Amino acid sequence: MFTKLLPALALLTLALASPPTSNDGTFKTPSASTRVRFRYWLPDASVDPQVVASDIQAAGSLGAGGVEFLPFYNYGGEQGPMPEGADWARYGFGTPAYKEIFKRALRAHAESGLVMDFTLGPNQGQGVPAEWDDQGLQWDLVPFTSAVGANGLFDGVIPRWGTGELVSLTSALVLSEEKRQKTIRRNLLPVNVTWTEYVLSHDSLTDQTSKVSRSGRVRLVLPTKEASAGAVGYRLFAFYQKLSGNKSLHFHTDQSKTIFDNGSYVVDHHSARGAETIAALLRQVGDSAWEDSVELISNITWTPSLPKRFAQKHGYSMKPLLPLLAFSQTTFFTQSSTVGPFHCLLDSPARGTAYFNDYHSVLEDGYNDFIITVRNWLHKRLGVTYSNQPAYGFPQDMTAAITHVDVPEYESWAYGDAIDAYRQFIGMAHLAGKKIISNELGAQIFKAYSMPIRQLLGIVHRAIIGGTNQVILHGQPYSGDWYGTTWPGYTPFMYMYSDMYSPKQPAWENGYEEVMHYISRLQFVQRQGVPRTDVALYNSVSVTNMSFPRIYQGTNLEEDGWSYSVRNGVLAAEGPAFKALIIENTQNLTCEVIAKVHRYAKQGLPIILVGGAPRQWQSHNSCSDREYQRSLSQLTRHKNVHTVSSGQAAAKLARLGLRPRVKVEAPGIVHSTWREDRKSNAAYSFLLNSYNESVTGSAVFQHVGVPYTLDPWTGEKSLVLYYTSDARTTRIPINLQPGQTILVAFERKPDRNSDLSSCHVTSLSSEVFDVTRAGRSSLLLSVPGTTSSQITGTLSNGKRFKLHKGCPMSNPMPPIKLSNWTLTAEHWERPANMYNAPTIAQKRNTTHTLPTPTSWLNISGLENASGVGYHSTTFSWTPSPKTGLYIHLSQIIHTLRFYINGQQLEPLDHQNPVRDISPYLREGDNEVRAVVPTMMWNYLLSIKDEIRASGVIFPPLDEGLVGDVMLVPFERVVVRC
Ligand SMILES: *[C@@H]1O[C@H](CO)[C@@H](O)[C@H](O)[C@H]1NC(C)=O
Ligand SMILES: *[C@@H]1O[C@H](CO)[C@@H](O)[C@H](O)[C@H]1NC(C)=O
Ligand SMILES: *[C@@H]1O[C@H](CO)[C@@H](O)[C@H](O)[C@H]1NC(C)=O
Repeated sequence: MFTKLLPALALLTLALASPPTSNDGTFKTPSASTRVRFRYWLPDASVDPQVVASDIQAAGSLGAGGVEFLPFYNYGGEQGPMPEGADWARYGFGTPAYKEIFKRALRAHAESGLVMDFTLGPNQGQGVPAEWDDQGLQWDLVPFTSAVGANGLFDGVIPRWGTGELVSLTSALVLSEEKRQKTIRRNLLPVNVTWTEYVLSHDSLTDQTSKVSRSGRVRLVLPTKEASAGAVGYRLFAFYQKLSGNKSLHFHTDQSKTIFDNGSYVVDHHSARGAETIAALLRQVGDSAWEDSVELISNITWTPSLPKRFAQKHGYSMKPLLPLLAFSQTTFFTQSSTVGPFHCLLDSPARGTAYFNDYHSVLEDGYNDFIITVRNWLHKRLGVTYSNQPAYGFPQDMTAAITHVDVPEYESWAYGDAIDAYRQFIGMAHLAGKKIISNELGAQIFKAYSMPIRQLLGIVHRAIIGGTNQVILHGQPYSGDWYGTTWPGYTPFMYMYSDMYSPKQPAWENGYEEVMHYISRLQFVQRQGVPRTDVALYNSVSVTNMSFPRIYQGTNLEEDGWSYSVRNGVLAAEGPAFKALIIENTQNLTCEVIAKVHRYAKQGLPIILVGGAPRQWQSHNSCSDREYQRSLSQLTRHKNVHTVSSGQAAAKLARLGLRPRVKVEAPGIVHSTWREDRKSNAAYSFLLNSYNESVTGSAVFQHVGVPYTLDPWTGEKSLVLYYTSDARTTRIPINLQPGQTILVAFERKPDRNSDLSSCHVTSLSSEVFDVTRAGRSSLLLSVPGTTSSQITGTLSNGKRFKLHKGCPMSNPMPPIKLSNWTLTAEHWERPANMYNAPTIAQKRNTTHTLPTPTSWLNISGLENASGVGYHSTTFSWTPSPKTGLYIHLSQIIHTLRFYINGQQLEPLDHQNPVRDISPYLREGDNEVRAVVPTMMWNYLLSIKDEIRASGVIFPPLDEGLVGDVMLVPFERVVVRC
């Protein structure tokens, strides 16, 4: 299986030279390669290339940097056969038709100055068109067992002879036998799986392979007197290797001639003809060749070279112990309910563990070879980088492969959108110096056409804390016609997974653009300099548990502000620059690892052993128990090694005098990142309030410089003028709503001459909204209009100030609630002919008057509607140089654009929708207009019977402008330095 992709590479001899030399652009305008990309779903190569090109162009004009081009084929046929009319032999991956589309997609990227990632095969990139017997395809190891009679005699053909090439025949004494059952959830439904469990006498395991004749016969006389009393008797275990014949693209081969029938070489010759054109295009816009999560199936994860590699690495034969591998040594991801026909345990369990560990480590080596081979080939032959979701679900430690991939990718879906889970991935990626960490982001079950942008942003924020700096949005569907598909068009995953970013979404031209820029700017900052993480958690597993249980027990690391990542490897001095290494007692270490940890301790790195001493990693080649205990006790005696009880690491770090790089002094959990750019002498921190309440306190940075806040919604950078600092730390007051983020930058010197300020505020009454610069030697405070008490503060030059109502502050100005709204609802509806899938929508208007903005679900006639709401109202105002207004929304569900007197406001932060609107105000009546698109779900639900292939089961959603819109007056007060 580890060489499965190689034939595909020949196919891609479309050839290019070097990846586009990328430049990040600027914070305000990140370059194409630094922007968000869409995963783009191509139904198959029969579609209109012009529509593909216009989809890509539309993505670019929305602010995407390009697409990850994915020939989807109903998820490789997993989601049903090809629809009537389709011909996947003619329009499969690698066919001339496919290459035309591929070329057009590349050209569309070039025309719009975008970059493109592409798969190495159809669907998720695992399969390739090839001859069925190509030795480079996936292999399987198929297990069988049968009982030997009570007399210990077997004379005949071994079980299932002919299944494939015999790898081994093992005889073993079964000490006990039991039927087992468990209930597993598959596609949300419970499934009972059953198997037989055998406990084998370890000493009885005997490799009998050499005794098997060419016709599969064997005569064995097994020593029955050795069979202990109460034993069940002998069994034979036979293992055959064969090509699995699995395809990542299923279709009926009886239709015309297929690529499998033709073999890939025919296709390869075709591609050579197009090479000249495509080479130039790929050089220009090809970014990463990419492979998705490996979702394979087999009986036992296998490749024919395993036995040899195993013997070379571990010094013993794996064959007699093969019965142990018949259970659960498959791709858990796709095979949770195929555990295996039988499960063998040994009467000496520890030795079984060693065998599994040894097997998994050889799988890891084989997988790494595969990755390295593909990567080198891509570098040399195509000049592109290799991106991949490594080793997902394989029975091995998936983090071991991260080092070898150019652009490692994970996904918000499999990682449950959990920061701790992400950290189990990025630790390795950061240590290996990976610059770009990609995230297939936003697939949520039952959220197609119904994922609000507010939810998407929550996923983005957690991903960024978890190391992401390339968001691949899941996803953009082909927008044209396709077989048997009604409006709203091609919808991969049968309406199950979010979301379908396409022009049919009312938000496409009404707010997605701001969101794309926002995410791109966030990831721009996450590419500057190198990431620094406070502490490393040691984690070494035999097999990655894809539910990513927490490694550190307790949440006090996060509560105390410690950023951490999880690693298994060598600590890099460059890169994350950890301040301490934490090892939980659930970890298993080898003598070599203890020696390494000991060296770190000697070099001064604090090592914290949590909950007691870790146990020994089991392997055939492990050091002796005595040796392990001796090196462990030497380690624990070192002065830099500290043993604490479970959950006490944060307290210990504090007692050691260590400080997190960013700590928020307030109750709750505020996650943060820290990056340092030596070249520009700048540092960046992104803070996320992960708490379900607002957090008011100070962010304390172990860093000094000129602090700025960066606004990813506008691309603007503003001086922070309210903070304190000493020789080592900077303390910035913060007030973050749940889910709210801030982005802080520190520069050595002011960015511009106009940023020079001779003073800043160091203490201030809490009501003040904002402090800005009025000139080089004065500051402007924005004081709420309702303030009646006095405002006090201190300046960095030591000067104190006190402002009283009327001196210079004027009379209180209460907030104004906007009311009497007129809502023109533009209904976006199905075309008369449902099979006219490319139609954006049939539109019609209705008008409504609302005292207060409310959900479309509460407005008569809009309960089942989707579309765009145009809300308007007026208020009267008398501007003066000393006063201003903030607009303050209750919430933003999806997207929203605000206009005051016809001028568009800068985008509002979804977690804190407040902006100063003073520059747009005029004397007398002022007009407010809000353009608020909905998601499509409520309307789709109402016509679900007319949509083909929908699996709609979930309820309608709140939509539109919801909640009070307040105007909060403030007064500007000048304070001189
Ligand atoms: C699974 O087995 C249990 C009893 O062991 C039974 O009650 C249940 O109905 C079974 N479920 C399915 C889905 O077959
Ligand atoms: C196991 O091997 C058998 C025989 O080749 C095959 O029919 C079956 O599909 C395989 N099972 C899995 C889960 O791949
Ligand atoms: C350590 O080894 C034991 C068995 O020897 C195993 O149960 C446990 O999961 C291992 N710990 C880790 C973190 O893999």
